[in-house]
Amino acid sequence: MQPSSKPHVPSTLKRAATPRTILALSAVCACNPLPAAPPAGQLLSSQCFQCHGTNGQPVSGFEGIGGENANEMYKELLEMSLRKPEGIMDLQIRAYTPAQLRLIANYLSTLPKTSESDDD
Ligand code: HEC
Repeated sequence: MQPSSKPHVPSTLKRAATPRTILALSAVCACNPLPAAPPAGQLLSSQCFQCHGTNGQPVSGFEGIGGENANEMYKELLEMSLRKPEGIMDLQIRAYTPAQLRLIANYLSTLPKTSESDDD
């Protein structure tokens, strides 16, 4: 028997590839929402994790910053950003507005606390 010159296309595929189906599929894709952006506090806090460890869980001598009371943390951060710079922390915390410090403090308070965190 002579092999057919056209490759065999299963009839299900032929039917699936109508322009109408493609249109319908792209409509489905367009309706899919993008993955939600992480909360602003999480984005702002990610910079802290360079020194204080991923999610505020330190791996070296750094202070843990996860799981602290949000109001206490906010006050502490604000104070550091306003006082005469004494160390690296006071300098880099100046990059944030008080509203951003609030978001950071709120987010950090939702993270697990480590044994190296202190309560002051
Ligand atoms: C470049 C490294 C670095 C980054 C980034 C950093 N820190 Fe720190 N942080 C330090 C060091 C060093 C100390 C301890 C010495 C000091 O207080 O200056 C500290 C101390 C702290 C303390 C304790 C202060 C005290 O006196 O008890 C808190 C709270 C803190 N950091 C929060 C944060 C937060 C929140 C961020 C992100 C906005 C952040 N840190 C980013 C280096 C860093």
